[in-house]
Amino acid sequence: MTATVITGLAPILVYFWPAPPKGQKKGPLHVALQTPVDQLQDGDAVKFDAPRNPNSAFIMADGGGDNAPGELAFGGFVVKNQGKVNVFAINCSHLGCSVALAKAAPGHPEASFDCPCHGSRFRLDGSVLHGPAAYPLSHLSWKQGPNPSEIEVEGIVLGF
Ligand code: FES
Repeated sequence: MTATVITGLAPILVYFWPAPPKGQKKGPLHVALQTPVDQLQDGDAVKFDAPRNPNSAFIMADGGGDNAPGELAFGGFVVKNQGKVNVFAINCSHLGCSVALAKAAPGHPEASFDCPCHGSRFRLDGSVLHGPAAYPLSHLSWKQGPNPSEIEVEGIVLGF
């Protein structure tokens, strides 16, 4: 319940929160993954959240619409698609709600990231499959961590 409320409030907090004051620390955030990157199969996506102790956020590397380089994200996905691994911010580019992975199934032939707010859908490469979103998902800058189940994602320690 608490996680659901935090997930729901995160886009609103990002929208209203002022720019981080000087002194807050930017740098790579260590993220543990449920599935190590080297074990991801094509079409797999693993969700992860920003560290909360201390409270931290990821920094978008690019974006359009409601997203932009430098904007904050409180979650993301590591995705393997056609042999390539991408890391995306969880924020829908329409108005910032959190997208969720919808796996391929009968009646849903293509796995996608679906937004619960206004129905936007994104392909696993982040491109728009269905509007109203007009821009792709934002990338997060990342690199492999010291072990396969850990990645380092560019972010900021907010400290509150
Ligand atoms: S916020 Fe995602 S479709 Fe509007």
